[in-house]
Amino acid sequence: MNKNPTHIAIIMDGNGRWAKKRGLKRSEGHKEGGKTLERLALHAKNLGIKYLSVFAFSTDNFKRSEEEVNYLMDLLIYYFNHKLDTICKDNIKVVFSGRKENLREDVIKAMENITKKTKDNNKCLLNICLNYGGREEIVDASLKIIEKLHNGLIKKEDINKNTFYHYLYQDLPPIDLLIRTGGEKRLSNFMLYQMDYAEIYFSDLYFPDFWEKDLDAALTFYKSRERKFGSVKTD
Ligand code: FPP
Repeated sequence: MNKNPTHIAIIMDGNGRWAKKRGLKRSEGHKEGGKTLERLALHAKNLGIKYLSVFAFSTDNFKRSEEEVNYLMDLLIYYFNHKLDTICKDNIKVVFSGRKENLREDVIKAMENITKKTKDNNKCLLNICLNYGGREEIVDASLKIIEKLHNGLIKKEDINKNTFYHYLYQDLPPIDLLIRTGGEKRLSNFMLYQMDYAEIYFSDLYFPDFWEKDLDAALTFYKSRERKFGSVKTD
């Protein structure tokens, strides 16, 4: 039986469908999803999970209507400036992964605000992926490496699959468990480098319907998995 995972990642899918089912606007689903994230982060922290990464907004989400993108950005600002205060008090450190380009100034300011406020917290790290793409992250890391090589700050031999992590947006351990809600079964360009041997738990529940007990079920699934990392069973 495995221990609890060190690093959990969540693709928080199904907010829009949750709202539609209730005759509400998609934005209402995102609002409810925010509350769910707050609950799950606290629950994960209380279970001793050290790292939680969540997909809040992908680089491709800019293809959505201007109204929805603006609503989501306003919601994120509200969360970073106010709502996540409980998270700060609960000793959770917030960091971000993704590209700053195309993000509104007020969003960047709110991101900086919560990063600063929580920088000394150390019980659990919440990595919020915002304007994020997994392939983009690998390209950006490679470009950082090329620049350092070019300037003679590192040598070619310094780069391997472990040191590559240092050049990603955040230097986090590999993902042990990926949870995707909303019924779809794909990775959607999320944390591809960190996902190499992740166990994957798909839930048909829409994200706002995913409660603490559902996270417990995902952990039970994870603990029952035999993790071989490419080797064969020895007994
Ligand atoms: C995917 O559901 C969800 C998103 C694109 C946004 C996730 C954002 C939140 C949960 C808001 C709070 C976040 C933070 C970090 C405070 P979807 O819109 O694709 O749903 P659908 O597949 O049903 O259309």
